[in-house]
Amino acid sequence: MCGIVGYTGKQPAAPILLEGLSKLEYRGYDSAGLAVRSGDALAEVVKATGKLKNLIEMTDGGKTLPGLCGIGHTRWATHGEPSRANAHPHVSGNATGSGSGPVESDVVGVHNGIIENYEELRQKLLHNGYRFYSGTDTEVVIKLVDYYYKKYKIGPIDAINRMMVRVRGSYALALMFKDYPGELYCARKDSPLIIGVADGETFLASDVPAILKYTREVYYIDNLQSARLCPGEAHFFDLNGDEVAVPLTTITWNAEAAEKGGYEHFMIKEIHEQPRAVKDTLNSIIKDGRIDLSASGMTTDLLQSVKNLCIVACGSAWHVGMAAQYVIEDLCGLPVRVELASEFRYRKPVLGENSLVVVISQSGETADSLAALREAKSAGIPTLAVINVVGSTIAREADHVLYTLAGPEIAVATTKAYSAQLVMLYALAVELAETHGKLDEESYRFYQDALLKLPEQMERALENKERIQWFAAKHANARDIFFIGRGLDYAICLEGSLKMKEISYIHSEAYAAGELKHGTISLIENGTLVIGVLTQKALIEKTVSNMAECKARGAYLMGLTGYGNYNVEETANFTVYVPNTDPHFYGSVAIIPLQLLAYYTSVSKGLDVDKPRNLAKSVTVE
Ligand code: M6R
Repeated sequence: MCGIVGYTGKQPAAPILLEGLSKLEYRGYDSAGLAVRSGDALAEVVKATGKLKNLIEMTDGGKTLPGLCGIGHTRWATHGEPSRANAHPHVSGNATGSGSGPVESDVVGVHNGIIENYEELRQKLLHNGYRFYSGTDTEVVIKLVDYYYKKYKIGPIDAINRMMVRVRGSYALALMFKDYPGELYCARKDSPLIIGVADGETFLASDVPAILKYTREVYYIDNLQSARLCPGEAHFFDLNGDEVAVPLTTITWNAEAAEKGGYEHFMIKEIHEQPRAVKDTLNSIIKDGRIDLSASGMTTDLLQSVKNLCIVACGSAWHVGMAAQYVIEDLCGLPVRVELASEFRYRKPVLGENSLVVVISQSGETADSLAALREAKSAGIPTLAVINVVGSTIAREADHVLYTLAGPEIAVATTKAYSAQLVMLYALAVELAETHGKLDEESYRFYQDALLKLPEQMERALENKERIQWFAAKHANARDIFFIGRGLDYAICLEGSLKMKEISYIHSEAYAAGELKHGTISLIENGTLVIGVLTQKALIEKTVSNMAECKARGAYLMGLTGYGNYNVEETANFTVYVPNTDPHFYGSVAIIPLQLLAYYTSVSKGLDVDKPRNLAKSVTVE
């Protein structure tokens, strides 16, 4: 989704803004723009469609835009097609045809989010003499701020507050007012926004990597708060316009973690970082030889009282939930439902007494997951969030939070955050099983040891790279790929298939192997690639039979199984082995070859691996 940055300080703003935007490219975008002002002069706006490099070229790396204060934006179109006119920044006056140049306007701004009642507000503003040059909701919201600013002759914070009371939807807004040189103003509701401070400099951004090079001292501005930013200072205000204290937090991620570090793409770097992400996550919750989730605020009493779980998430995080369902039900004997957040939020989910709603999200900003969390909270059900980004909205609103320690994940296709979420859910399963009296001490130790062995097993699973690279190159032109498996292997298939389709643009489906005969097998043709995931001993024979049925109809078979299951080779044309682990935890090792397969397929096709078309890293709108 859109990325916003802002800077006011002692250095030229434009190069810092461009660099910040480049760190937010992973969020997905179709156009970009900057507004920079030099002292009292009018803000100068430059916009470009397409890649950020177009904007960098147009401004000679920012040199054509002098000034120490500015805002920048990468736009992911929601209202209005991708075009220069619709690109941000937007202005309260009437922009020139190209939308670029010095602007006479009193207010200039950038926005991430969606204003739901923008049409009604547009009509109101038209009625009051405003004219619109773009099809965006952002232009409406900026003109609305301008309208209140002038009508009531009030300061920026009061004008922003009046706007916040009037608009519905989500936003992170960064604004500059002509009468307030050297100052930035911002506000947020349900869209991410952080503010960083350093000596004589203040930054704002949608996400940490954009400012990490300059500062680790950040403020998380709260929902319905606004802020005034001056060089080296940030002042926060509530809806009444009263100044409020917001704590300063230190980011522990280091700047290198958000760089490629010699790898060709972020995705392959992040695939390799998985053992470390898993180890760090486990180390954060295994203390003195026991799993300890107390940092989340969950007490033993709460865990004991849980009689059923509802896991809610989107995309890959939902796949973590699907895998966790098998593990929790098997280890704890507790019923688990796994819900897509986008569906959950519009249902009247029947959650029994003593339910625990678990929301899984890397970004902690996914709009549907956030709405689902609020739905659960409003029904009075305790909520636990498993989140990677510290201070994100879901983390702040959930009753309890368990943080995964994957570090910044830049590639749109998640890998290390998925793996860190998976182990966090395994640990939750073991802890729940123990508190429910389902594990004796020996079994508890056994599972905990099995968890601690995972990083090393994942490391070994990464050693298979070259074979998978060769296989990916061979099948890069596939039209369809089917991933089949039973039980936990089906959950692994869901993630393997999503990885493949999102970055290779090859149509792929994950199917519960036993379901193929009920329709989908009619799609199998000569040469169709079918990948069987075969980690669950008791189910291997059955899935192999389903693979054989596909082979009989012309399919080419890849088998993915644990070392020692050599009989798979009798049916599969190509077999990949992974280190053996406890059956509950196979997802952690088996996903690695599937991530590598998707990665190398995308590379073979020459695609934009880290920023696949039409996708955004963090989906902050519905
Ligand atoms: O930030 P979240 O974990 O809430 O994101 C949820 C999904 O958008 C995400 O997992 C998505 O499916 C992945 N980027 C796919 O690789």
